[in-house]
Amino acid sequence: MKIVSTVEELRIALPTNQTIGFVPTMGYLHEGHMSLVENARRENDVVVMSIFVNPTQFGPNEDLDRYPRDFERDEKLARDAGVDVLFYPTTETMYPLDMARVTVHHGADVLCGASRPGHFDGVLTIVSKLFNLVQPTRAYFGLKDAQQVALIEGYVRDYFVPVEIRRCPIIREETGLAKSSRNVYLSDVETVEASRIFSALTMAREALDTGQQVDEVKRQLTERLNEIPNSQIDYVELVDYPTLGAVSSDSTELLLAVAIQFERARLIDNVIWKKG
Ligand code: PAJ
Repeated sequence: MKIVSTVEELRIALPTNQTIGFVPTMGYLHEGHMSLVENARRENDVVVMSIFVNPTQFGPNEDLDRYPRDFERDEKLARDAGVDVLFYPTTETMYPLDMARVTVHHGADVLCGASRPGHFDGVLTIVSKLFNLVQPTRAYFGLKDAQQVALIEGYVRDYFVPVEIRRCPIIREETGLAKSSRNVYLSDVETVEASRIFSALTMAREALDTGQQVDEVKRQLTERLNEIPNSQIDYVELVDYPTLGAVSSDSTELLLAVAIQFERARLIDNVIWKKG
């Protein structure tokens, strides 16, 4: 595995005439990230991973400074998983003058975008820079961040970016808790309580299966999430997927998405419900 941190080193390390599968991350790797690498490995000649904690997607009162980092551990995990090129740039490399930003036109003002203004502009800015540098054949994103995937797909479509976006399923603990770098902030008790998020989402999906109305499902889901002690609901939403607009009779896929604030960690989770 080649570890590179500058644009020049990356350009030299990238292959020509081979397919490139790209897995962008912010590090502190877990099985969720590794599942993206497995998919990339299977479908491409070469796998490139980036590790960069992107400052522009964090709000002023968010956890940029205390976002978990452990490059030595990540490097070993990436190597063992078969990553060929690990790109680990500095902020100065990624934002030399910081003069340009990508702005999301639709879909950034709901769900996580409503509570994290500017977050998705930051995500699309870094993703567009990384795509331009790596020029991947395919790029791999987890449905754990379903809104992020939808907005990246929209960006790629609108800007005719020559990359195929691959959606990958959410990897969970045995309890159902979605794997996340931020789970390290949970206490033991909170870790147990947080598994109720997925049970509540599963029940909501089953309620939709039985033909219950969206508003009623949302009410029940909210009620169940409110019962989780020492936590606060940030949002509970049922929206059309991947447009992220209001559910209509034409909707064939619904995203049931929630964000729950624990003492030191804000967790997000979701399920996608398909009609029929
Ligand atoms: P990060 O949170 O490190 O996640 C990197 C990728 O791993 C994302 O595509 C995310 O959806 C996926 N992922 C995280 N947890 C997962 C899980 N439990 N199951 C499946 N996939 C999971 O998302 C980001 O970084 C950043 O916003 C980034 C796209 C790198 C831009 O900075």
